Amino acid sequence: MPIKRYPPDINIARQMPAEELSTLLKVSSALAASLDLPTVLQTAIDSAVSVLRLETGAIYTLEGDLLFLGATTPPLKPELEWLRLQPEQLSNHPHIAAAFANGRPVHLPDTTTVQLSPEERIIIEARNLRSMLFIPLLLEGKAIGTLIIGSTSKAREYNQHEVELCRTLAFQITLAVANAKLYRTVILSNEELSRAYDATLEGWSLVLELRDQETQGHTLRVTDLTEELARKIGVPEETLPHVRRGALLHDIGKMGIPDTILKKPGPLTEDEWTIMRLHPEYARQFLAHIDYLIPSLDIPYCHHEKWDGSGYPRGLKGNEIPLPARIFAVVDVFDALTSDRPYRKAWGKKEALNYICEQTGKHFDPQIPPAFLESIS
Ligand code: C2E
Ligand code: SIN
Ligand code: SIN
Ligand code: FE
Ligand code: FE
Repeated sequence: MPIKRYPPDINIARQMPAEELSTLLKVSSALAASLDLPTVLQTAIDSAVSVLRLETGAIYTLEGDLLFLGATTPPLKPELEWLRLQPEQLSNHPHIAAAFANGRPVHLPDTTTVQLSPEERIIIEARNLRSMLFIPLLLEGKAIGTLIIGSTSKAREYNQHEVELCRTLAFQITLAVANAKLYRTVILSNEELSRAYDATLEGWSLVLELRDQETQGHTLRVTDLTEELARKIGVPEETLPHVRRGALLHDIGKMGIPDTILKKPGPLTEDEWTIMRLHPEYARQFLAHIDYLIPSLDIPYCHHEKWDGSGYPRGLKGNEIPLPARIFAVVDVFDALTSDRPYRKAWGKKEALNYICEQTGKHFDPQIPPAFLESIS
């Protein structure tokens, strides 16, 4: 969601020498190429200084209500920590404050002839600044920072054309900064959301284990094994988080199955089977309401389909069955067979593996059991 870029102001472009115009275009595309804020700021200030053939410059940006020195040319020595300005300190820097407050450039052709605050004097003397131009970075009329450029040693007037050039640059910088910040916010909130989602799902899966009388952590192990197998079989890396969530929730549809059936200590009757076989469809109905889980539906909805078409709920066959569900089916059956169930004791590992091999090409996609055997041993 990049911020819309407006073409540079036509009047400015018309009076601008070709060389400057092409530099501006280069700056603008260099800025557009990065979404990393420190890189954007450093590129911006280096370009601004070189376009105007000056010696030094800096960019301040607002972070919350702190004004923060984002980049300088030449780069600041790390020990110079002057420059995180609290809002109440802004009055100690009246020229920055003026650019901020009025949204207009502030021009100091010769710093030796103007009144400076003590704080300004420290910086100006440390950097040997003789002339300075402060250009606010304006986004929708609000200052989000300041571009400062300057000459060292010699006093210097900035003509109207140069000021306009700086405003154009400032505009490009503003967009690049806003883009980088927006990008950072989106990435951060996505990561936070994912973490919150996954914590929620793990909580749900613990509840499901309690209901199923599973041992704690069992579902997580099944999930880890499924992820490992999926990676080995070549499921794309960006799909794996969805596969994991699907595996965590694979039997969530059993929430809709009454205890009398779920915990029955013996074989199910035909009517009871009819109800038990609804659990994938329950899962689909339940999860389809939750946007971020829609890409994770394959396993909960299709984990009881069989390669030869004899599974449920839809009787899908072969590659019609989504790959994550084909992978998960092997893990699920192995795990079910080697666990105690209300209706039988756990099988031995060897017996269970024999069963998996025997079902290859019947229940299971023939490519999965060999990879599973590798993973499990
Ligand atoms: P589950 O216990 O998680 O079993 C998952 C799958 O593992 C089963 O899907 C089946 O493919 C395989 N599996 C599990 N136990 C055995 C077994 O003893 N022998 C063989 N050959 N395969 C086994 P399926 O059959 O569609 O069953 C789905 C769910 O229905 C089971 O999940 C379990 O909750 C329930 N269920 C299945 N059979 C019985 C039963 O005889 N009594 C009761 N009370 N529930 C049953
Ligand atoms: C469930 O929570 O799995 C059941 C939801 C439903 O009945 O649709
Ligand atoms: C479960 O039943 O809740 C977890 C794994 C399995 O189906 O065996
Ligand atoms: Fe199931
Ligand atoms: Fe299961």
